[in-house]
Amino acid sequence: IPVDPFDLVIFGGTGDLAQRKILPALYRRFCGGHFPEEVRIIGAARADISTEDYRQMVAEGVKATLNEHGPGAAGIPEFLRRVTYVSLDAREDRGWEPLAAQLAEVEPRPIRVFYFSVGPGLFGPLAERLHRHGLSDEDSRIVVEKPFGHDLQSAKALNATLAAHFTENQIYRIDHYLGKETVQNLMAIRFGNMLFEPLWNSQYVDHIQITVAETVGVAGREEYYDRAGAMRDMMQNHLMQLLCLIAMEPPAKFDPDAVRDEKVKVIRALDPVEPYHIVRGQYNAAAGGKGPDLTYRETVGNPRSSTESYIALKTHISNWRWAGTPFYLRTGKRLVARSSVINVLFKDAPHSIFGEEAGRHANHLKIRLQPNEGITLSVTIKEPGPGGMRLVDVPLDMSFATALGADGKNPPDAYERLITDMIRGNQTLFMRGDEVAAAWAWTDPIIAGWQARGDVPKPYDMGSTGPGDADLLMRRDGREWRGINP
Ligand code: BG6
Repeated sequence: IPVDPFDLVIFGGTGDLAQRKILPALYRRFCGGHFPEEVRIIGAARADISTEDYRQMVAEGVKATLNEHGPGAAGIPEFLRRVTYVSLDAREDRGWEPLAAQLAEVEPRPIRVFYFSVGPGLFGPLAERLHRHGLSDEDSRIVVEKPFGHDLQSAKALNATLAAHFTENQIYRIDHYLGKETVQNLMAIRFGNMLFEPLWNSQYVDHIQITVAETVGVAGREEYYDRAGAMRDMMQNHLMQLLCLIAMEPPAKFDPDAVRDEKVKVIRALDPVEPYHIVRGQYNAAAGGKGPDLTYRETVGNPRSSTESYIALKTHISNWRWAGTPFYLRTGKRLVARSSVINVLFKDAPHSIFGEEAGRHANHLKIRLQPNEGITLSVTIKEPGPGGMRLVDVPLDMSFATALGADGKNPPDAYERLITDMIRGNQTLFMRGDEVAAAWAWTDPIIAGWQARGDVPKPYDMGSTGPGDADLLMRRDGREWRGINP
């Protein structure tokens, strides 16, 4: 069903995110027939360029993202007819009247979405000017990207800045992991099946591992990253969201506040993390000496940087469901493979009727979020042969690409889903203000702790699975990491 007519203004419309993600996602939705005829997309930025120049830029940005799965380039001219550009200054009055005039051209007023694809320093000035120029009404939405704050205090300040002009149900805070098909699938798997939920607690689950491994480094965003590090860049938001979806209670319905209430409860129930349950790492030269690639410190141009490009930690959720089940989370850059995986390791059967020689066998559910999206459940069976009763673990393996055919092979980009939802006015997959604040409230003391201790990240080889100390973190508990597959 096509969405209602809308005007989408992208502040920061010439920026990297707009060109690489937002506009290509809009194009794919447009070509799929999901938008009505009247849609208008207005790029706004400081650059003094014409609509023609902007269209050229957008065309190139879109073309760079085309692949064999999505639409071809044929729809670009039609799409561009909906795109215009306004040069404006977020902190001054320049450009706001022309923007207001363009928006006023269409009556009755369609839904207005204002996308703040800019640094958080501009959220306040933009919100204030939208208000001052009467561009927003109670039906308008604003969309903000991460990082939503640098710590609890700055996140609270941002919440307050936005709240001065917009109500919470108008504010769409993006965590793009929530737009990923497989991340939404976590809820379908848990709450659409009878099979898992009865076992989904500390009585049956030994521990849970969440891994988000990346092969990319930090080139191109050195300044931001060296101030943020993996804890702020990934753990506080993306891994936290995965943790929430894996651990939360079933919401009564799939509705924005019902889901977000349950997520906040998980975050608030998180224990503080002990210093010896945290391993920070920083990528070094590849194994065997200096390769052609720059080390972390060379990339950011800071030979003394103690920012982590890798973090692993162990945490607990203090509630009835999870008390006693540790959660191990890790994420890092320049690792051996790109792989986001959640591993749920079940406990051993309470008693083995086959005797000690059959060995220990526990079920293991592996949810692959990207790439090769799918689920594997290890099941214990008898090893074939005429001998004794020997057991072996075999996989029940399902890949979405095989099970779902074409739909499973080419999941829509996270931004397509999120953009559709913001136009429809559905906030389920967006973070609420209290949720972001709660995540910072857990994160801040962890960072303050290592800063006070003068912790220096452990070097790890590019192309490895991370620092050896992260393996020790597991081994001390008699466990091991699963999931980064070269
Ligand atoms: C971003 C982080 O939010 O997510 C990046 O700032 C990271 O550092 C990226 O690389 C990972 O997203 P994806 O979709 O590639 O897993």
